[in-house]
Amino acid sequence: MEISNELQTAIDHHRHGRIDRAREGYDAVLTAEPDNVHALSVSAILLSQLGDDNTAIKRLQRAIELEPRNASLHNNLGNIFRRRDREEEAFEAYRTAILADPQHVDSICNLAVMVRARGAIDDALAIFGQALAVDPDHVESNHNLGVTLSLLGRNEEAADCFERCYSGGRLPVVDPSWHAQTLDHLGRHQRAVEILEAHAAARPDDAVAKHYLAAIRGERLQRASNAYVREHFDVFAQNFDEVLARLKYKGPEIVAGIVNEMCERGPAGMLYDLGCGTGLLGPRIRQSAKVLIGVDLSPRMLERAGRRKVYDELIVCEITDALTQIPQHSVDMAVAVDTLIYFGDLAPIFAGLHRSLKTGGAFIATVESHADDDPAGGSKILPSGRFSHSAAYIRETAAANGLKPHALLPIELRLEHGEPVTGLVFMLENLA
Ligand SMILES: C[S@@+](CC[C@H](N)C(=O)[O-])C[C@H]1O[C@@H](n2cnc3c(N)ncnc32)[C@H](O)[C@@H]1O
Repeated sequence: MEISNELQTAIDHHRHGRIDRAREGYDAVLTAEPDNVHALSVSAILLSQLGDDNTAIKRLQRAIELEPRNASLHNNLGNIFRRRDREEEAFEAYRTAILADPQHVDSICNLAVMVRARGAIDDALAIFGQALAVDPDHVESNHNLGVTLSLLGRNEEAADCFERCYSGGRLPVVDPSWHAQTLDHLGRHQRAVEILEAHAAARPDDAVAKHYLAAIRGERLQRASNAYVREHFDVFAQNFDEVLARLKYKGPEIVAGIVNEMCERGPAGMLYDLGCGTGLLGPRIRQSAKVLIGVDLSPRMLERAGRRKVYDELIVCEITDALTQIPQHSVDMAVAVDTLIYFGDLAPIFAGLHRSLKTGGAFIATVESHADDDPAGGSKILPSGRFSHSAAYIRETAAANGLKPHALLPIELRLEHGEPVTGLVFMLENLA
């Protein structure tokens, strides 16, 4: 077969998810033509998907030696550097791409996202503007500008940007939850449902669209599915700390204050951070635990927690499952910051805590809250895809599972659409 045909066949395999055959095809082409720039480039994308970023980077660098003014190569290299948190190199790669081709809209958009992550919002907005001047329908630029405006509470403008992602007439490959939540916030509930239905119908295995559709319809779910949590947070991991800082997220600070005060006389022996995410809490409570263990379903969130080097162990596991596997009555303290918001029914978690905490052991957590007399009852799913709970529900469910509720205090957790999200922080003590 001609090299070009062989490469095209491998690319088709790649597109259709036949990874092994794609890899074989790329290898065969590169054996015959080690300096085939197209093969170096597409095989680098595949290797990076498979987690072999080092070889992917080498292949892209070789391709760039051969075609230094190929903006796509620099952009692809920038994407790998960004994912690896090699920020300076990513910046450099995107800048070089734009110098090589000032109209390279993917690189302009990626640069804007990085500039936003550094907190230079006005500059980021200006760069998104440049990307959209090149291509007003560019999906990634419209989506990311929409996210940025939504973080600033500029919801009408955000909704316009999200809407433009659909102007090409094809369903864009974006997380539709930002758009749907913004629409719902603006009172355009029907359009929000329409968007989510379109995504869920186009990709029936899309756990994210399915979850938000259930949420916006107010369906009764016991908790967010494992698939949703993993997919959502694996994608969110890259921007999580930046986005939460912009939303003035206070959960870790509030819970750390309580944990550190309770441990003033000496550190807890074994402390579990349930749903630890990127580990924002870890450094704040490290001194209060002899052994600090993080549990989370999202490998990418945990990867970031690991980089903080404060957890003794990080476990990829669903929390209720983890609580059944921990030796009985072995845990001194457990915390869950902004994690119970992914559970409708708290009984399984509270039962697991009763089983794994020592007698007198403490559980400190935050929830989003609603009034005790809410017609939906003690727990309900919100259009945001998260759950909220009433104080009465927490007290009753805790007591029914052998946990004694102590203080339940109102807090402001973070902002959403420019407004504060109210919640509760509480402490439960494990009874014998
Ligand atoms: C909003 S983040 C909060 C992360 C961290 N606690 C913080 O305050 O920054 C929620 C985390 O809970 C995790 N999570 C949600 N449901 C979970 C479950 N059932 N089992 C394990 N982890 C879960 C998510 O993967 C995510 O990392």
